[in-house]
Amino acid sequence: MPSSPTSKAELFPMIHPLPMQIMEQWTKSMEAAFKSMMQMAEFAAEVIDGATIKHINDLTANLISGTRMFNPALAMRSAPARSAVKKTTRRVAVVTGGCGGIGTEICRKLARNGCQVVSTYIAPEADFAKQWQKDRKAEGLDIDVVECNVTDFVSCEHMAREIEKKYGGADILVNCAGITKDNTLRKMDEAHWHAVLDTNLDSVFNVTKQFIDGMSSRHFGRVINISSVNGQKGQFGQTNYSAAKAGMIGFTRSLARELADQGITVNTVSPGYVNTKMAMAVPEDVRNGIIAKIPVGRFAEPSEIAHAVAFLASDESGYITGSDLSINGGLFMM
Ligand code: CAA
Repeated sequence: MPSSPTSKAELFPMIHPLPMQIMEQWTKSMEAAFKSMMQMAEFAAEVIDGATIKHINDLTANLISGTRMFNPALAMRSAPARSAVKKTTRRVAVVTGGCGGIGTEICRKLARNGCQVVSTYIAPEADFAKQWQKDRKAEGLDIDVVECNVTDFVSCEHMAREIEKKYGGADILVNCAGITKDNTLRKMDEAHWHAVLDTNLDSVFNVTKQFIDGMSSRHFGRVINISSVNGQKGQFGQTNYSAAKAGMIGFTRSLARELADQGITVNTVSPGYVNTKMAMAVPEDVRNGIIAKIPVGRFAEPSEIAHAVAFLASDESGYITGSDLSINGGLFMM
């Protein structure tokens, strides 16, 4: 059996010594270059940190918005990218009325899911909001609070600018701020009509308008409007509230169509009666009458609404848009 070759002379008997020397030098240079590359890779692996990840994220966002600018149809439709580049790798979620009964659970849920959550509050409730923020901190949740009067367009612009400065924009918007001023139409005064329409419906225009250009530039967005079973079915004593909540559903369906090709989904969640201060303000006898009509036999817990919001806010829910998710224990079935 022939023995296997061991020396270069045996391996390459026909090669002249000069090319052999050149080959050896070339091999050494290649080895040195390869070693340097390996050292660089090891070094990069050691130093890669949050800042580097953020830089990669920013470059990716720029690339995405750059690509969109080359699509003339989309570039024309999306306004100049006011906030194309995010300043954090986390999803930023803005929750209006986030310090309220349902809002608090939405904030908790989104924060636990890894979002940077920002709740808005109105100026007269500044002390309450700061305490609320401390309480969340004690639970291990770092939630930001920003002042905003959702009935005032300019106030909403300021709030959005602050969020843009801090985080580079918002990916998720939950329009949750809302009030009731219940009365039969005969007894309802003009102020109560306007207060409910301004806070529950105009607010959705005022706030949503601030964020959709940024979402469009980054080709990702989730807008979730908190409507109500009483917007779906009507309720004795709630012409103002039901009109506003039904209006939200129409707004949602129209905006969903406008933004569907830009990676943005727009949906409503329509809770039934939820264990919050708002529902507890309903006189007890009326409340008992309502419970008697709920097939599940009880009011919802705020966390049950937050669960649905988090579902619609997730990256995986990109194909759900223009929908209205009922969470009412069977009180109203469409
Ligand atoms: N259907 C038909 N008739 C009704 C009625 C009903 N649901 N409720 C009351 N009436 C009648 C009363 O029997 C009374 O009749 P008479 O004059 O013949 O006695 C008349 O209407 C006037 O009723 P009230 O005495 O109750 O009138 P009021 O002015 O004291 O109260 C009200 C009216 C403030 C609207 C009160 O009925 C009420 O609070 N209702 C609850 C409204 C409600 O469900 N709000 C939901 C709040 S929670 C929320 O909105 C969150 C969400 O998204 C679900």
